[in-house]
Amino acid sequence: MFSHTADAASSKLPSDEAHILVTTPDGAVRSIPACEGMTLMELIRDAGIEELAAYCGGNCSCATCHVHVAPAWAGALPEVSEAEAALIETSENATPFSRLSCQLPFSAALSGLAVTVVPAE
Ligand code: FES
Repeated sequence: MFSHTADAASSKLPSDEAHILVTTPDGAVRSIPACEGMTLMELIRDAGIEELAAYCGGNCSCATCHVHVAPAWAGALPEVSEAEAALIETSENATPFSRLSCQLPFSAALSGLAVTVVPAE
């Protein structure tokens, strides 16, 4: 069964529309629409969440699109490339659930995915 807890980072909310759940650095949780063909970074930026800087525009060279993925979803994502891993290692906020959102294409199977935006360093 679905859970309606306040802990959006670990819950999957029911919805007929594709969406992702984004927790911003101030702790606010937003459900934003998602469509295939876009990366999580693009979805988050298009939703007006400016805490995700994404300075390099998705070229895997800045690490300012860093997110922490809810552990329940980590296995549903593509493997981390060497370039992505190298950038994540430069972050003092790196965890085993760190990903660069520009390297994560959205697909319908990821609807309900929960991520937390990592504050800019
Ligand atoms: S936007 Fe720069 S690494 Fe993702």
